[in-house]
Amino acid sequence: MSVLPQHIAIIMDGNGRWAKARRLPRTAGHKKGVDATKAIVKHAGEIGLQYLTLYAFSTENWQRPADEVNDLMGLLRFYLKSEAAELHKNNVRLRVIGTRDNLSKDIIDMIDHLEGLSKNNTGLNLTLALDYGGRQEIMNAVQSFIAAKAATHGDIDSSLRRDDKSDIDEKEFGKHLYTHDLPDPDLLIRTSGEMRISNFLLWQCAYSEFIFHDKYWPDFTVDDFDNCITDYQNRDRRYGTVESVKVT
Ligand code: FPP
Repeated sequence: MSVLPQHIAIIMDGNGRWAKARRLPRTAGHKKGVDATKAIVKHAGEIGLQYLTLYAFSTENWQRPADEVNDLMGLLRFYLKSEAAELHKNNVRLRVIGTRDNLSKDIIDMIDHLEGLSKNNTGLNLTLALDYGGRQEIMNAVQSFIAAKAATHGDIDSSLRRDDKSDIDEKEFGKHLYTHDLPDPDLLIRTSGEMRISNFLLWQCAYSEFIFHDKYWPDFTVDDFDNCITDYQNRDRRYGTVESVKVT
């Protein structure tokens, strides 16, 4: 039997164009997008995927018209409220990564509640990237890393001047990222035909396999998801070497 990727990350793109193609308001696309999200989350849990990370709202998305931002926040509220019991019942552990600085208090409270409620669940690890930006995450990690080194060694200068730099490495740095307790994604899927990663998991996707899928997110089905996994299973991962690491 083929091996599942351990961690799949998705950029759920194309809600607006899906709506535009039907002469509907963009919100209608986001609503349909939530339906697609629910179906993929349920399916991912059922097939035994360990980690699924979804890009739900970027640090740049605040620059959209206020009405659209309000609609997206409303949908997020609705999702967190209406899905909380179902996610918990399905043994899903929820995490939210991002700054939280700009989210409203009631949304932060819902997130805290659901993260606490689900923290001992052992099924799918579902991570929502909300008010998330990869560069922002890395800058935040640099600040936290420097503060931790300064606290251990007196100040950052003496920390950097030391001959022994064994605690200044990728592994240590990774502990300061929002994703410190998640493995790197094996597979990144972006829907809607756009071929870029738009500030998503910049550090973590160093060796991820990428699939750019033509469908808009509201049209993306569980069969499309399974086909992406099959595509991934047929790839060779070489991690910069000449040795191929078959994923199957
Ligand atoms: C991209 O479509 C999608 C988003 C900015 C938000 C993604 C949100 C959802 C799928 C719904 C909310 C999800 C949860 C978990 C509540 P776009 O608006 O950029 O589409 P476009 O590129 O066609 O304009």
